[in-house]
This record gives sequence, C-alpha cells and structure tokens, in this order.
Amino acid sequence: MAQPIALSSVPAHPETAAAPAAPAVRVRNFTRRFGQVTVLEDLDLDIGRGEFVALLGRSGSGKTTLLRTLAGLDPADGQAVATPASKAIVFQDPRLLPWQRVWKNVAIGLGGPGVRARAEAALGEVQLGHRLDVWPSTLSGGEAQRVALARALVREPGLLLLDEPFAAVDALTRLRMHELVLALWRAHAPAVLLVTHDVDEAITLADRVLVLDHGRIAAEEKIALPRPRDNDAAFQALRHRLLGHLGVEAPAPRAVAGEGSLVAFPSGEIVA
Ligand SMILES: Nc1ncnc2c1ncn2[C@@H]1O[C@H](COP(=O)(O)OP(=O)(O)OP(=O)(O)O)[C@@H](O)[C@H]1O
Ligand SMILES: [Mg+2]
Repeated sequence: MAQPIALSSVPAHPETAAAPAAPAVRVRNFTRRFGQVTVLEDLDLDIGRGEFVALLGRSGSGKTTLLRTLAGLDPADGQAVATPASKAIVFQDPRLLPWQRVWKNVAIGLGGPGVRARAEAALGEVQLGHRLDVWPSTLSGGEAQRVALARALVREPGLLLLDEPFAAVDALTRLRMHELVLALWRAHAPAVLLVTHDVDEAITLADRVLVLDHGRIAAEEKIALPRPRDNDAAFQALRHRLLGHLGVEAPAPRAVAGEGSLVAFPSGEIVA
C-alpha cells in the first residue's frame, strides 16, 4: 500500500501559492515488474500540493501502472511512495454502477449525515444538479464522465488522478471538460496527475508536463504561460519540444528575421 502523508492545508489559489513545504506526492526509486517485464524502474516523482501535472508517454510505457500505484490500487511493496491520505481516480470509462441512480453513484462509500446533499452539491459543480435521480444509462458520454468527476471531488481528495478522462468524448465536449476541470481544480486545489496522449491538452491544462519513457520520467517541461492559453508561438515551441521528447517528428517553428515576436512555420503560417 502507498504510505499516506498528512496534508495540513491546501492552498486556496494554487497558481499564486508559495512553494509548499512538502509535496503531495513523493516517489523514489520505484520499480514495478510484471513477471519478467520491468515497466517502471527507479522512477522518481514529486508533485507539489495543488500542482497540476500532465503525464505523456507512448502506449504501454506504464502511465496507468503509475497511477494505479499512486491511487493505492496496486501494491507499492514497501517502496518509497508517499501520497495524501485522500485520493481519487477517474478513468477513461466513467465506471458508473448502472443499478444505482446518479446521486448514489456519487455517494458510493460516503458516510455520515447529509450524504445526498453532498452528492447534490458535487453534481451541481459539474452542472448536473438536475440529473440526481436519473439512471446512468440515460446520460451522454460527457455527462457520465462529469458524474465520475463529481464522484472523485466529493471526497475532497488531496490528489486527483485522471487517466485519459477525456479520450472518449467529442472535441467540443472535450474543450468544455477542460474548462470544467480547471474550474474544479481552482475551487478544490488538489494536486492533479493527468494522463493524456494529447500534447495540446497537456500544455493547455498543466503547470508541468512529464514524459514517461523506459520506466522513468525521461523529460519535463514547466508551463509558465498564463491561463487561458492561446495556441501562440510559445505554445507551439513547447509543443515542438514535447513532441521531440516523445520521438515524434514535427516541423520546427523558426523565427522570421527582423519580425520581433512573429514565428513562421515551414507550412508558411505566421503566428504573432
Ligand atoms: N496486471 C498486469 N499484468 C501484466 N502486465 C501488465 C499488467 N498491467 C499492465 N501490464 C503491462 O505493463 C505495461 C504498461 O501498461 P500500462 O497500462 O501502465 O501502460 P500505459 O502507459 O497506461 O498504456 P496506454 O497509453 O496504452 O494506456 C504494458 O506492457 C502492459 O501490458
Ligand atoms: Mg493507460
């Protein structure tokens, strides 16, 4: 099991908070094998309290394995894996119980008074306060994923783990989900580790983007751009570097001589 660490308080404004004393996540020299296959090897990872981190990596590189370990779903076998006591994970598939109404899906595992009211408040935050009593089968894919987010956040996790949560929704819904996740992150200030295959999604959302390769964090890029983030020259430069870390050939942005901040791409497109 992952060892819990105490979280005294969570910064109310993660983007402006001072550097916290202790990170939300600290992993040292972590190795995970399946039989003869070593998936993660001597992996080190820190995630600050309230920090939003995105994780990229080729298929099979071990992203889900890492998330499952941080969630406490897989054993850490006594290795140095420190995480907050309160964690929640959202998968690509919302994994709702079809025989429970929506609010009960959100309330699963909650105890104490006011459980329905807490579920209702969480569903209100994902704009589903009007669907409390419907069955999961009547929801769209995007709505079902919002229920999964509400189920995660109602627990006020110190660490929110997101494993390709927007991969199965259409492009417009995905953009709305980006705004929603950022709003929820600002309101609740958990540390976030988001697995995605979408480099643009990672740059749009995260404070820091990591690349997992050969069992370790092979590269990282800090994203200092203010939010909301435009697909401008700085964004494109980050995109180019991250695609390079992933081993994907991408046309390099090149500066136009004498044009200040303008950047021209080999396609002929010029971006201010
Ligand atoms: N329970 C398991 N038993 C055996 N092998 C496993 C198990 N879980 C994962 N693996 C193997 O570990 C490797 C990493 O899997 P993982 O699911 O972590 O990859 P991933 O980076 O999340 O990939 P994807 O981007 O396709 O989701 C794969 O080769 C996978 O087959
Ligand atoms: Mg995976």
